[in-house]
Amino acid sequence: MRKIVAGNWKMHKDRSEALALVSALGRSPAIAGVEVMVAPAFPFLAMAAELLQGTDIIVAGQNCHHEAKGAYTGEVSAPMLQSVGVKACIVGHSERRQYFAESDEMIGRKVRILLDHGITPIFCCGESRAEREAGSHFKVVTEQMKGALGGLTPEQMEQVVVAYEPVWAIGTGLTATAGQAQEMHAHIRSLLRSHGPNVANVPVLYGGSCKPDNAAELFAGPDVNGGLIGGAALDAEQFKALVRIASES
Ligand code: PGA
Repeated sequence: MRKIVAGNWKMHKDRSEALALVSALGRSPAIAGVEVMVAPAFPFLAMAAELLQGTDIIVAGQNCHHEAKGAYTGEVSAPMLQSVGVKACIVGHSERRQYFAESDEMIGRKVRILLDHGITPIFCCGESRAEREAGSHFKVVTEQMKGALGGLTPEQMEQVVVAYEPVWAIGTGLTATAGQAQEMHAHIRSLLRSHGPNVANVPVLYGGSCKPDNAAELFAGPDVNGGLIGGAALDAEQFKALVRIASES
C-alpha cells in the first residue's frame, strides 16, 4: 500500500520563509517508500515546483476552483495549478467547508476538474465534535464521501487520495486515538472497496494534530497510510521526522 506524508501549510509563511522550508526539505535525502507532498500557499507554488524539480517531493495546492476558467475574481483553477507544476491538490478541507461554505457537491466538482488535469485530489472528510458526541461520525463521513465522490468511475476513484481529519482534532492539540483513527479508516476503506477492488488501495491519510510524538501509534493502523499534517509541517525537522516514522510503520 502507498504511504504519503503531506504538509498543509495553510495561510502560513511569507516568501522567504516558504523558500527556506522548501529548500530545507529539498536538500534532505528521499526516504524510500513514502511519497512526500508539500502544499504552500498559492503565490509560492511555482517557486516550490521549480526548487523541488529533480527531487521526489510533490507540490500540492490547498484548493482550486471547480471551473477551468471564467469570471471568478480571486480564484485559481486546476489548469493554472497544472501549468506551474502542481501535481496534487487538497480539496474539501474542513476549513474550506466551514469558512467558505463548500458543499459536498462543489467539492465533487473540484475533484473531477483536478482529475481532468492530471492532478491528484487529496479529498478531506471528517466529523465535528458534536457529530462525534452524537455518535453520527460514520454517517457523516459516509455522506461526505458519497456526496463528493459518488459520481466518479472506479478508474477516477483510483486516482484519489482520502484524508480523514476529525474537525475536533485539527489544530487543537487533540488527536484521535489510534483506535478511533483505525476504526474510521477501516470504514472509509470499506466504502472505497464498494467502488471496485482496486479502489480499496486508495491511500487514506490521517490528519489532526499529528506530530512526531503520536505519529508512530497512529500510522501503525493497518488502514492508516500516512498523514496530512498542518502545524508540524511548518518545521522541517518535525516534518522530516514524520516522513521517517511513516517509512518505519
Ligand atoms: P493540524 O492540521 O496538523 O495542525 O491539526 C491538519 C490539517 O488541517 O490538515
